[in-house]
Amino acid sequence: MRLYWSPVELASRLARKGMRYNFASGAPDPGLLPIDELRRSFERVYEEYGKAIIAYPGAGGLRELRIELSRYVGRTLGINTNWRDIIITAGAQHAIKLLSQLLMRRRTTVYVEDPTFVETVAPMRFQGARLIGVPVDNEGMNTHELEKLIKKYGPGIVYAVPNCHNPTGVSLSMDRRKHLIEIAKEHGLIIIEDDPYTSLYPNTEPTLKSMSNDVIYVGTLSKVLGPGLRIGFVVVNGVLRNDLEKLEQHDFAASTLSQYLVYDMLRRGVANDVIKRARELYPRKLKELISALDEYLPNALMYRPHCGFYAFINTRVNAWELLRKSVRQGIVFVPGGRFFINRRLENTARLSIGSISIDLIKEGVKALSDIIMAT
Ligand SMILES: Cc1ncc(COP(=O)(O)O)c(C=O)c1O
Repeated sequence: MRLYWSPVELASRLARKGMRYNFASGAPDPGLLPIDELRRSFERVYEEYGKAIIAYPGAGGLRELRIELSRYVGRTLGINTNWRDIIITAGAQHAIKLLSQLLMRRRTTVYVEDPTFVETVAPMRFQGARLIGVPVDNEGMNTHELEKLIKKYGPGIVYAVPNCHNPTGVSLSMDRRKHLIEIAKEHGLIIIEDDPYTSLYPNTEPTLKSMSNDVIYVGTLSKVLGPGLRIGFVVVNGVLRNDLEKLEQHDFAASTLSQYLVYDMLRRGVANDVIKRARELYPRKLKELISALDEYLPNALMYRPHCGFYAFINTRVNAWELLRKSVRQGIVFVPGGRFFINRRLENTARLSIGSISIDLIKEGVKALSDIIMAT
């Protein structure tokens, strides 16, 4: 199947109908979105750059934004890079689509965490890539299993979300990080690190990219400044950088206006202010979700979330059926079956703390547990 609706999209459509308990959306907390600062930035770039803000974007992205981003990734993610090695994309999703087009053909072997983020692997599937699922536990992708799989299926590409994984919330342990980088060197694997959540939490593990410059890093401003801005980026060097820049010409998808707005918000420190507040809020929200689950649905958590937006649970009943019942009570979440590669566990769900208000988390989990108990 090359094209299908993402379960995140399907659940989000329900959420748009105004659900009280939105555990589906991966969008950031509405209280953190810097909407007034966005207006100020528009006025500033309008005054300063005039019509240039609606000119065609150049390949690779706006130079000013690339320079600001090189500072941002250095400061918040420990990645030291030249601005030329940063390619602007229309979000991380677009970045991964471009990388899939560039690097994957029919039967290209791609190792992914199992479960993994269904939406980012969709373009890989579309290219005809052969996805090999690597088991995940509380320390992230099991790199020892990865090594065994490489012996069987040969070298290829590794697509991973090492920090604050979507959908399990786990982070790759330091030992496994080192091991993954070692394996990649030994077998000539290309690593794509997808990393939307690291900046939102204090004391996260270092990015793979900060440990090895060979890693292709995909970042995004979606979770900090707003997903509708559609600004993400890739940090990559050498031949791949040049090729990605050329491929980006095929669609010029990252709007010039958005690029100017994000540039201005970065240089004025708006992103930093949001990050400061995010690092205070999201850990509290995640803690609230975990403690509510421990209280009302003990043993449901399949992995212990470490950071990010998500917890992945065993629902004990078919999650789509549960969703139909839950929606009537104003609860929405994403059924988990499609996140899997090797098997489809339909009695699973991804719960997100992104959009839901912290005050509703406990109440929502209790309401969900009541429905599960009655099923
Ligand atoms: C792991 C992962 N990758 C990519 C994305 C997409 O981000 P963007 O809005 O930048 O396309 C998300 C969003 O939820 C995500 O969780």
